[in-house]
Amino acid sequence: MSHDTPATLQLRVAEARSLNPLIRMLRLAADNGSPLPGFSAGAHIRVQVSLPDGQKDWRHYSLINSQARADATEAPREYLIAVRREDDGRGGSRFMHEGLQAGDSLLIEAPKNDFPVHAGGARAVLIAGGIGVTPLVSMAACRKAASAPVRMHYAGRSRELMAFLPELQQLLGEDLRLHTDAEAGAPLDIAALLDDCASDDQLYVCGPKVMLDAVLAATQARGWTHERVHFELFTTPALEEGDHPFDVVLAQSGQTYTVAADQTILDCLIEHGCDPMYDCKRGECGVCATPVMEGEIDHRDYVLTTREKAEGNVMQICISRCKGKRLVLDI
Ligand code: FES
Repeated sequence: MSHDTPATLQLRVAEARSLNPLIRMLRLAADNGSPLPGFSAGAHIRVQVSLPDGQKDWRHYSLINSQARADATEAPREYLIAVRREDDGRGGSRFMHEGLQAGDSLLIEAPKNDFPVHAGGARAVLIAGGIGVTPLVSMAACRKAASAPVRMHYAGRSRELMAFLPELQQLLGEDLRLHTDAEAGAPLDIAALLDDCASDDQLYVCGPKVMLDAVLAATQARGWTHERVHFELFTTPALEEGDHPFDVVLAQSGQTYTVAADQTILDCLIEHGCDPMYDCKRGECGVCATPVMEGEIDHRDYVLTTREKAEGNVMQICISRCKGKRLVLDI
């Protein structure tokens, strides 16, 4: 990766345990037990995984802290992460579930925070969907440590599949609102949740794309400013129905590569030895913005404005695709 690559650390899996049939928790520590680099609520680490085809890749996992102590994450002895098994993915989560045991060594990148929580007195309203709860646990603990107002809405299919419930109940008490589709017989009512917010509440959302899109649409419809709504997707976006292969032409070098239906443009370029700039790989950070000279873009990011998308001169190559057969990039 050519973008501000953080330092790497070789850690040991101190504990690996299933929290439920879908989610596995891992504790990572230094071999000699020495303190690890500190982190702030919302931070993540990248973990190097081995894929079934033998390739190495990186996966992004939020760091979890449920202790409401101001110094809890300053020099931690371990990092706690939780991984949801994605059987349709490329194999990264399967590696984290099946390929790792306590005692194994793992390469990670030091923590980085693209999803920080504010420090002020305005209430933080945290909306968690499924495993998207992980960064929000740390935010809840951080807000409680500062005696700052916080409320969490935690939604999942059923209680059995929702990780960290006991920790959150203890941490948040009345400030935790639980929603299960199984008990409610319907998805989380986002409109009602927003109606209940004060005009200076800050919203933090982490969950699946369908939840994120629903919250963003509802806040935009209410005229909430961009500064009040913070979000992070919890997984690398999945394939969509109808995704097809297409050619990408690099105008400056004259090279043409074929992007497979289950591959991103970014991964295709990396596979062919290019060194594009990227960071989040989820269409959120903006780093991979690439000028486009020809072709119809299938925009899927959360970075570009509606106008920029309509103009079609730039795209986020980590997630957006081509509607037709060919794209010409100005790189
Ligand atoms: S790498 Fe973050 S938007 Fe593409």
